[in-house]
This record gives sequence, structure tokens and C-alpha cells, in this order.
Amino acid sequence: MRYQIKNFSAYRLSVFALAVMFMFSTQISVAADPNSFNRLMKKKEEKNLPPTLDGIHDSEGEGTATLQPPKEAFSNMVKSKAGNYVDWVKSLKEGKINPRYDRLDPNAKPIIMDLNIVREVKGSMPDVVYPHAQHTEWLDCSNCHPAIFIPQKGANQISMASILLGQKCGVCHGKVAFPITAKTCRICHSKPKPKKAKNKKQVKK
Ligand code: HEC
Ligand code: HEC
Ligand code: HEC
Repeated sequence: MRYQIKNFSAYRLSVFALAVMFMFSTQISVAADPNSFNRLMKKKEEKNLPPTLDGIHDSEGEGTATLQPPKEAFSNMVKSKAGNYVDWVKSLKEGKINPRYDRLDPNAKPIIMDLNIVREVKGSMPDVVYPHAQHTEWLDCSNCHPAIFIPQKGANQISMASILLGQKCGVCHGKVAFPITAKTCRICHSKPKPKKAKNKKQVKK
């Protein structure tokens, strides 16, 4: 009888150990992909599925099967390393895509504003360069101003935490524009900090 109880608790212990190991392993995958908690972001193999399988369109609708599958539509685009694996900025630049800027007027042209805003980042990450040009190729000023950003340099408080929660840049990035992954940090954090080595040389002189 005693032996049995002992055995049972040993069994429970090993189940507990397995559970801890499992938690630990999921913990690691969370750290590897900062967006893995975001249930709106699909896994790589679930991305760009044909319309009948994407969970958005009516899988039984007659028209659904006639829609062009994204993988086919994207095959000619410039590739990227995250999101839906299309570099939309380069694809537009290279004329792979020719979007309409006005639903009714096929000749309408976007108002492109070429103004970079540098946001200095404390710590070792390179500074963030927010480029108006690439955004206004796709978007209207009113998509961001004033609801998401007050149009004044430094007037907005932006942090990585708020972006990952879907605010500020995260209103779009991670949903309709490239997401935050280890492969995309440098697209935003693109301005290296002034080199320390140079400063040292200057001090020595
Ligand atoms: C995708 C979002 C987005 C779009 C679209 C956008 N902006 Fe901005 N804009 C920003 C951000 C971010 C800043 C920087 C705010 C900060 O530093 O706090 C900014 C800053 C500005 C500033 C302040 C510049 C300064 O030096 O103080 C002006 C003016 C401005 N935008 C005008 C416009 C106009 C005009 C358009 C349309 C042609 C436009 N923006 C489109 C995001 C956007
Ligand atoms: C969509 C653009 C974008 C991407 C992608 C991005 N960041 Fe940021 N990051 C920002 C902005 C904007 C700030 C705020 C800068 C400021 O203080 O104004 C920021 C701030 C930071 C900071 C400073 C502390 C904080 O939370 O504000 C760190 C550290 C950081 N980012 C790390 C990362 C890492 C690591 C990655 C890749 C996993 C990454 N960022 C990807 C835009 C981005
Ligand atoms: C209203 C939507 C929206 C917001 C808000 C927004 N972006 Fe974007 N961003 C886009 C779109 C759309 C693109 C082009 C598609 C893509 O690259 O995924 C883009 C592209 C970019 C690019 C790539 C430019 C290139 O040359 O490839 C950078 C860098 C960037 N965004 C940074 C930021 C930062 C930093 C913020 C916050 C200060 C921000 N974005 C806020 C929609 C947005």
C-alpha cells in the first residue's frame, strides 16, 4: 500500500517536471518572437493561404475560388523576410504594383512628402528614422494626423511596448505593414549611433 502511494507521487512529480519543461520551452519561443502573443499574427505556414482556406472569405462561396491566391499574386513582387514576405516599398518603386490612389479617379497621384523624422533611442539600439516619403506613397496625411500622431517632431511619446500593444506605429506595423520581428528591427532602427571610436580619437588629439 505504502509503496503504491510513493509510486503515485513519483508519477505526479514527473508530470509536474514535464509541465515545467513545457512552460520553459514555450517561454523560450516567446522570447524568440516578440509578436508570438499576438493572436492576429499568423504563423509562417498559415500566411498567404488561398482565399478558400484563409478563414476570411466564405469557403463555400462560388466567387471565393475565382479569387487569385496571394502566393500567385505575390510571386512577382520583391521579397522580404517577414510579414507576408513582400517588400511593398521596393515593389512599388520597381513598378511591380500600380495602385490606384483614388477609387474613382485612375489618374490621381499621391501627395508624397519627403521628410524624415529621427527619434533618438536611449541605450544601444540605433536611432529610429521615420520616413514620411515611403508612408505617403501609400497613405493620406489624415491616416496618421492627428489621431495617431500629433504632427510635431517630438510631441508624441512612442515606446516599443506601445508599438507591440498595437498603438502608435503598431496601429499598422504587425497588422497591415511589416511586423516587429528580430529580422525587422533594423528597418526602423536604421540610423547608427555616432561612433564612440571617433570620439576617443578626438579626445586623444
Ligand atoms: C504613417 C503615419 C504618418 C503619415 C501618413 C503622415 N505623417 Fe506626418 N508625422 C508622423 C510622425 C510619426 C511624425 C513625428 C512625430 C513626433 O516626432 O512626435 C510626423 C511629423 C509630422 C510633422 C512635424 C514635423 C516637424 O519637424 O515638427 C508634420 C508637419 C507632418 N508630420 C505633416 C504630415 C503631412 C503633411 C502628411 C501627409 C502628406 C503626413 N505628415 C503624413 C507620421 C505620419
Ligand atoms: C515599426 C518600427 C520599429 C520596429 C520594427 C522596431 N522598433 Fe524599436 N522603436 C521604434 C520607435 C518609434 C521607438 C521609440 C523611439 C523614441 O523614443 O521616440 C523604439 C524604441 C525602441 C527601444 C527603446 C526603448 C523603448 O521601448 O522605447 C528599444 C530598446 C527598441 N526599440 C528595440 C527594438 C528591437 C529589439 C526591435 C526588433 C525586435 C525593434 N525595436 C523594432 C520603432 C520600431
Ligand atoms: C497608418 C499606418 C502606419 C503607421 C501608423 C506607421 N506605418 Fe510605417 N509603414 C506603413 C506602410 C503601409 C508601409 C509600407 C508597407 C510595408 O513596408 O510593410 C510602411 C513602411 C515603413 C517603413 C519601411 C520603409 C522602407 O523603405 O522600406 C518604415 C521604416 C516604417 N514604416 C517605420 C514606421 C515607424 C517608425 C512608425 C511610427 C513612428 C510607423 N512606420 C508608423 C504604415 C504605417
